[in-house]
Amino acid sequence: MPRSWLFVPADSAKKLARAAQSEADALILDLEDSVAPASKPEARHAAREFLGSRPRDLRRAQIWVRINPLGPLAFEDLAAVVRGDPDGIVLPKAEGPADIERLGHALDALEARESLAAGSVRILAIATETPRAALRLPQFANAALPRLAGLTWGAEDLSAALGASTNRDAAGHFAQPYLWARTAMLMAAKTLGVEAIETLHADFRDLEGLAATSRAAAAEGFTGRLAIHPDQVGPIHLAFQPSGAELEFARRVIAAFEAAPGAGVVGLDGRMLDIPHLKQARAVIERARP
Ligand code: COA
Ligand code: MG
Repeated sequence: MPRSWLFVPADSAKKLARAAQSEADALILDLEDSVAPASKPEARHAAREFLGSRPRDLRRAQIWVRINPLGPLAFEDLAAVVRGDPDGIVLPKAEGPADIERLGHALDALEARESLAAGSVRILAIATETPRAALRLPQFANAALPRLAGLTWGAEDLSAALGASTNRDAAGHFAQPYLWARTAMLMAAKTLGVEAIETLHADFRDLEGLAATSRAAAAEGFTGRLAIHPDQVGPIHLAFQPSGAELEFARRVIAAFEAAPGAGVVGLDGRMLDIPHLKQARAVIERARP
């Protein structure tokens, strides 16, 4: 699954052209907040054209589309872009599993109309953008959502909805309400077995801050990150792919268990390793790219 998810305002021909050359694992053609209301029809058209031209032979990037929140605009977005066979739809302001199901039903109908394989268009939900959305995160624990590929979160819309003057604390880190929503999102994603995608780093010139916070997110179990500028893609890839040392250690953990068939616990470098360590090591190998 993608490590980097690069937002591209779909009404910008220049940015679409630039995105086609980017190394991002996934592009998110945006029809929501980066596009002014008057430009939505033009943006839909451009997104549809971009999908149709599939500059995909140049790179292996997935192409996703962020639609508007569920409602009349969203259905116009879907009617325009699903015929382009996107890899998936990014749903903003998703308020719990029922919204994912509702989008899924719309996709069922559109896939049939466009003769696309049933269930082929996946969903990435931005799941913390309203207080109601945040409170509904625990509902994902009991949901069965076959189209859902991942969950991600955002602090900007949530702070606006809370009437907060900032979403940061005095030290510049996310304040408690956002960390709580982020953690609940991570738990929901892991319960469902879907990708957990870290939110964007808004200060796009601060590549050091991006790298540090991305490494922290990867260490916590996030599997990729949203990006808003092409320069952010490289640092995100570095953070979300295992380092040489991590890979080497994972291989040694697996070798240690293979050398002791049937054992639930082994020792390596004076440390105890049990089954969770073995699972972790296998996950590291799986995340490695050729
Ligand atoms: N996708 C594709 N190309 C992008 C890009 C993006 N997300 N962001 C910047 N570029 C292009 C610029 O058009 C510029 O191209 P040029 O060299 O041909 O002129 C080049 O990359 C360098 O851009 P830069 O001058 O550093 O930034 P900017 O001031 O042009 O743009 C933003 C800054 C924030 C407006 C821009 O990065 C952007 O639109 N990001 C996405 C915003 C978005 O989608 N938000 C919704 C999700 S929250
Ligand atoms: Mg937003």
